[in-house]
Amino acid sequence: VKSSVNVRESSERVNSAAVHVFRYGSGSTPTVPWEVTPATPLEELNLNWGERDLPESVRTKHVHRLHPYLGKYIPQLVEVFLRKYFLPGQHVADPFAGSGTTLVQANELGIQSTGFDISAFNVLLARAKVTKYDPLLMKSEIQKVISSSQVTFESDHTVLPGLLSKDSEGQTHIEASEYLRAWFHPRALRQLLAFRKEIEGADPAVKDLLYVILCRAARSARLTTHFDLDFPKRPTTEPYYCHKHSRICKPTEDAGKFLRRYAQDTVRRVTEFNQLRTNAPAEMVHGDSRQASLPQVNGVITSPPYVGLIDYHAQHQYAYHLLGLKDYRTQEIGSATAGTSAAAKAKYVEDIVSVFERTLDVMPTGGPLIIIAADRHGLYPVIASKLAVAIEAEIQRHVNRRTGRRGSAFYESVFVWRKL
Ligand SMILES: C[S@@+](CC[C@H](N)C(=O)[O-])C[C@H]1O[C@@H](n2cnc3c(N)ncnc32)[C@H](O)[C@@H]1O
Repeated sequence: VKSSVNVRESSERVNSAAVHVFRYGSGSTPTVPWEVTPATPLEELNLNWGERDLPESVRTKHVHRLHPYLGKYIPQLVEVFLRKYFLPGQHVADPFAGSGTTLVQANELGIQSTGFDISAFNVLLARAKVTKYDPLLMKSEIQKVISSSQVTFESDHTVLPGLLSKDSEGQTHIEASEYLRAWFHPRALRQLLAFRKEIEGADPAVKDLLYVILCRAARSARLTTHFDLDFPKRPTTEPYYCHKHSRICKPTEDAGKFLRRYAQDTVRRVTEFNQLRTNAPAEMVHGDSRQASLPQVNGVITSPPYVGLIDYHAQHQYAYHLLGLKDYRTQEIGSATAGTSAAAKAKYVEDIVSVFERTLDVMPTGGPLIIIAADRHGLYPVIASKLAVAIEAEIQRHVNRRTGRRGSAFYESVFVWRKL
């Protein structure tokens, strides 16, 4: 990208003190994330990476792609702000940690981290990413579970004991919820349940990782179209015209191939991260950030849920059913289900303010509160005005969405605030 640095500067009044708000557009050359230091001037950052600057394989490097997650930020964006505002040995909090991007990047840079999330599956996923595994134990346990459940992968009829139940009329059923029976072909479901059963006997140190493999395979094996994996509305049981592959495709009956493929991929990804990771502690807590009790930290980097945009429990519904995880969706802030009415926005502002008040309480004066949000409704200036913060900058970046059928481009902002 070649264009002159485009910096617009304006003054705003926040908490009665005059502060400068900078909005940076596209600078001359996209920033190289791993070259950023605390001395890098904010106005020199250009976060408008294109596919050539940060290809998909780099954005989804090592454990970041253990499982798909709609609504995560890219690790390199977090890396820029960790390098600019934190030093090795310091402590960063993320009250909306989701799939754990902040925790993983912080660990790579030797920074301690604490994350919170209300969605149990996200907590499981983030923990599986930041856990340090003994490489030999991990490989052998994953191989053991694949081998022992293989028998059901290869046969149409074999069912492990304990996976069947009889109804009052004596009919045999697979022991599974209505949701699972509706969303999976019986063969795929048998394979998934057999894998789940084998995990029970695995070494506890590797269980969460095995559950992530199971859920990733389940996501791919749902009776859905290839082009609507994020939020399929109802099961697809018949062949359909596929927009992704431009041909007729058939819903899958086989989960075994996904289990094998993702088992291998997981070992490769964890091994890669093992070579980069540090010993910096990373703790992921399951809870509502409005009631979180956080340790003392140096600052915060987070991407909060946005108002009326995504239902975070719903996107991993299969995982909740397969693992029997507790569902706290009514405590999600800004859920899509709650919509974008004036009342929903007001509640959103109140909730986000209460979370940030708690995080500011455990930060030193001057500590950075860095928020990444596509603020379509202009709520973040309102949120800032209700908090004891000084606004250091707002950096806008162009985001090119390349996944699924959501081809549109949009802007997201990085709000850099300092505790007063
Ligand atoms: C935009 S996502 C964060 C994604 C994260 N940055 C990543 O890269 O994976 C927002 C997260 O906030 C979580 N969340 C929503 N309401 C919450 C609450 N009351 N307490 C804690 N977490 C909540 C959602 O479950 C979701 O994972």
